Parts: sequence; structure tokens; C-alpha cells
Amino acid sequence: MCGIVGYIGYEQAAPNLLSGLEKLEYRGYDSAGVCVYDGEKLNVFKAKGKLKILSDMIDGGKAVKGTVGIGHTRWATHGEPSDANSHPHLSDSGKFAVVHNGIIENYIKLKDHLIRRGVKFYSETDTEVIAQLLDYYYTGDIIDTVIKVLSKVNGSYALGIICLDNPDQIIAVRKESPLIIGLGKNENYIASDIPAILEKTRDIYRLDADEIAIITSSDVKIINTDKDEVKKEVQHINWDISAAEKGGYETFMFKEIMEQPKAFRDTINPRIKDNRIVFDEINLTPEQFKSFKKICIVACGSAYHVGVVAKYVFEQTLRIPVEVDVASEFRYRNPIVDDKTLVIVISQSGETADTLAALREAKSYGAYILSIVNVVGSAIANESDDVVYTWAGPEIAVATTKAYSTQLAVVYLLTIYFGDILGTISETEYKKYLSELRLIPDKIEQILKNKEDIQYFASQQFDNRDIFFIGRNLDYALSLEGSLKLKEISYIHSEAYAAGELKHGTISLIEDGTLVVALATHENLFEKTMSNVVEVKSRGAVVLGLTCENHPEIEKSVDFAFYIPKTCDIMLPSLAVIPLQLFAYYVASLKGCDIDKPRNLAKSVTVE
Ligand code: G6P
Repeated sequence: MCGIVGYIGYEQAAPNLLSGLEKLEYRGYDSAGVCVYDGEKLNVFKAKGKLKILSDMIDGGKAVKGTVGIGHTRWATHGEPSDANSHPHLSDSGKFAVVHNGIIENYIKLKDHLIRRGVKFYSETDTEVIAQLLDYYYTGDIIDTVIKVLSKVNGSYALGIICLDNPDQIIAVRKESPLIIGLGKNENYIASDIPAILEKTRDIYRLDADEIAIITSSDVKIINTDKDEVKKEVQHINWDISAAEKGGYETFMFKEIMEQPKAFRDTINPRIKDNRIVFDEINLTPEQFKSFKKICIVACGSAYHVGVVAKYVFEQTLRIPVEVDVASEFRYRNPIVDDKTLVIVISQSGETADTLAALREAKSYGAYILSIVNVVGSAIANESDDVVYTWAGPEIAVATTKAYSTQLAVVYLLTIYFGDILGTISETEYKKYLSELRLIPDKIEQILKNKEDIQYFASQQFDNRDIFFIGRNLDYALSLEGSLKLKEISYIHSEAYAAGELKHGTISLIEDGTLVVALATHENLFEKTMSNVVEVKSRGAVVLGLTCENHPEIEKSVDFAFYIPKTCDIMLPSLAVIPLQLFAYYVASLKGCDIDKPRNLAKSVTVE
């Protein structure tokens, strides 16, 4: 959500800023802008809409003189998407330029205060308050002024600041919203995320809360708000550069769908040694685990859907009560959580504002926090008692695929590991689960080979107005994800229902030609779900049935069938999700949607 970049060095800044912003487009945005110091003043260029509009306006950056600059892609929160509301924002005197990711919660009060003292505002944004406060409190000492302004604002922020009085430095600061510093040779960068700088450098600092970085072309100094210097470790990023490139695929989402077998292997293999699951990274002892009375899972979006799968799987195999909540609900519902609760936090980015707040809420009650996170060193990872990283590599498409799959992989690893500790799974089951887990990536590959079948079905069904997904138990958990994927990228209205619940209302929406995707992958519930299929068919629905290879009879009841290989019941979601991702993908593609950057959505939701 919002992307920040900054460049200071010997090259022309604007092309660097545009190329960094392009790499951050995935975060979601509706306007973009840059500010470059041209030797005399701070020049700002900004435009509503796609980055290309800005880029064309300044000839790919070539038209803008200067080697120091900051840039931004804005995802509107306060004030509509417009040129005026785009960042960077200049202070009234033109002395300070600011880019911001986050939300200044007390901006109305601060703005009123400044307006009463004669300060003029030019936008409706919360961010402009920071620029004007910098002017208002400016003493001639930039750092003192920044510290003073930070003491006045509440909320979340990552900020990039340039001041005309010292244009050879960029000031960067953060609280809650992510910000990294890329370390080059006689040039340095700031960015919201690694892909923005990966072509230029692999050495970074991750700024922590309320650290202030003073960045020149040859030096990076980091201090805290007491002005004490902070020594930080350089983190070396060893991603293959192709990980953050499309590599010949039409979209990142398709590339990431195809990468799932590898991502799954990368996540499970390092944790399997001599046919046992070993979590070197977990400090939680078996005794501690045995003392937990319940597990709470909190997450947002697709990560929450992984949590719903995990609830079924954990309860079935561990026989511990499990609650699963969307983080934005959990944090405000005064949850019953204590030191006998294991809270599992799931997040790809490790920065989702509600998930982070839910983590802190649970921690304040004494709960043990184990997180499943993809981004190394992110806020959620840092604040957890234990972190299990998903080794999915960078996920760029807004709609998650490989992160979802690797989160599921970790859920299965934990299930077997904890089941062994509790003795709720036998040695024979342990071996069976482990060998099935190892086969999942091959089976995903097998499904991906049949992707044209799904593509064909999508070509028959892409102009639907409403699509319903139904299933029972784990198939229901998966229906939630199938439905979300579809609506995220194709903008088709879609809902997921527990198949047995259809009769309590939703079946009234089924009419001639309504598409229903019926998931019936579980042996013991196959017949039950089939009876729901018959109900919707008899009301005119067109049905895509998804089941395992051993149920060819499904073809008698549905209009189109897709088969997945068999595996143990708890792991079926890892296979069944693949056709659902492909279906959403092909439908969106046939509709001509911008798949990697769906409207109104952001990859990393860093505001509440
Ligand atoms: C956004 C993304 C989803 C993601 C959710 C949670 O809505 O578009 O794909 O599942 O945030 O993000 P997290 O980074 O916490 O997994």
C-alpha cells in the first residue's frame, strides 16, 4: 500500500525513481509522483493514474535534472486520487518535500491547529500535515525538527524527506510501515520493499520503529529519537534477480502459480531430516506446547483462509480447540487469550497492520506467538516468539498464490510435528503424512499440466455475473479462497458457502445458468456434497465439480468435472486450490483485467 523510493548519488535521480516505483506497482496505487532537487529548488511532478502517465510527462525521467530525489505511488486513503493529493507534498515555503506511507491518525487536529496559525494547505491528505509541520517547527536544524514533528504525530508512517537547506541528504524514518535503505557505491536508496532496489544493490538496512536515517550519496547514519547513533547489521539479499522479474511469463500471478511446486519444496525440504520434521527455528518446547489449552489463529485475506484450513486440520489431528479470526475482528473483540494459548499469526508480508495489531493484543495477554511469515525481518516476524518462514521467495502479484500454498505447507509440517509431540498421531500416521507431504509438489505439477482443461472451462464461463463456490469442511475452507481469488482479479461477484448451508437462504439466488463451483474432494462427504449439487442443478445451475480421480461418476451430476490426484484428506486443499487459482486467472485474463494490479487492492495493507 503506497510505495516509497528515494535516490541519492551521481546518476540522474528521476529515471531511477521511476524504475523503482515500477517495481513497487504491485503494492497497489492510484497516482504517482516524484520530487527532485535540481540544484536550486525542489521540483515536483505528479499525476493521477498509472505510472506511465507520470513517466510520459517527464520523458521517462530524462527531462528532470538532479541527482537527489524521492518518489511515491499513492493508494488513496485521505482524499480522492487526484494530482493534488498525490505525493510528494511540499511545505508551504517549498523548503520540505515529503513522501509518506501510512496514516497520520491525528491529522485533523494538527491541520486545524496549523490553519488557525495561517498555514495554507493544498491537498486533502493526512501526509501534507507532516510537510507543513516541518515548516512550522523548523529551527534551522533538520534532525531536531524531524524529531519534534514525530513527537506530534500519532499513527503509522514511513517517510522520505528532502530539505532545501541541505539537499545533499535524504531523511528516512518509519513506524509500522516498512522502509529499507539500499546501500550502493557512492549512491544510496530508500524503498518500501526490496524489488525496488534489487537491480542496483543487494545490501540493505531495515529501519526499525522510530529510527531516523540520514542518507547521503556516500554515507548512511542511523540515529534514534534521542539522537544516539544506532549500529545496524547490513542484510544481504540473496534472491535470484529473476525472482522479482516476470521471466517471460505474461503476468507475475501466472509465474507465481507455476512456481508453486518449487516454493512448496523449498518450504518443506529444509525441515525434513532423516524422515523426521525438525524445526530448528522454534524455541517452543514440547512441554510448553503440551501446556496450551487452545490455539488461536489470526490473519487477513488469503492468510486467514489458510487459518480456516488449519482449524479443521489441527482440530482433527491434534484434538485441541482452535479459534480462527480475521485480525481486524480479533483485535477489537476482547479475546479470551492467556499464557495457555498458542496464537498462530499468518502473514505473507509480515506487515499487515491489523495482523500486527492482533499479534500485539494477544501478546499483551501473555499468549505465545508463533508466526508463519514470508518476508524475512518483517515487523510480525520480529515481534513473534517464534517464526516459521515460508520460503516462497518474493510474491509480486497482489492476489496471493504461492504464499498461500507455502503457508499451507507450514500448517502441515506443524500438524505432524505437534501431533507427534502430543501423541495424537501414531508412528504409522506420521510416516504416511510425511510421505504424502513430500509428494504434494509432484502432484501440483501434475495438476498444472492439465491447466488447459480449466482454461477451456473458463472460456465458456467468463461472462458470469455471479459465481458461487460450495463445499463442506476443508472443501468449504477452500471455497473461501477460490471465491476470493476470483473476485479479487476478475471483479465477478462471488460467494463461498458451506454446502449444507445453501438451503438456508442462498439457494434462492440460483437461477438458470448460475455458475456453481462444487468442491467434493473428501471421500466421506462426497455423497453429501453431491446432494447439494443435485439441488442447485435442479434450479438451473451450471456446475463445475472438483473431485479426486477416483470419482468419475461425478460427471453424471455436473456439467464439467476436474480431477485432482488423491492424497491424505488433510492435504487435499494443497491440490484443490490449484484449479481454483487457475480458474480465477483465466477468467480474469479473458475479461482483460489487470491481473497483477487489480483495482482498489493493495498487496500489503499497512493501514488499518
Ligand atoms: C491483501 C492481499 C492478500 C493477502 C492479505 C493479507 O489483501 O491482497 O493477498 O492475503 O492482504 O496479507 P499478508 O501479507 O498479511 O498475508
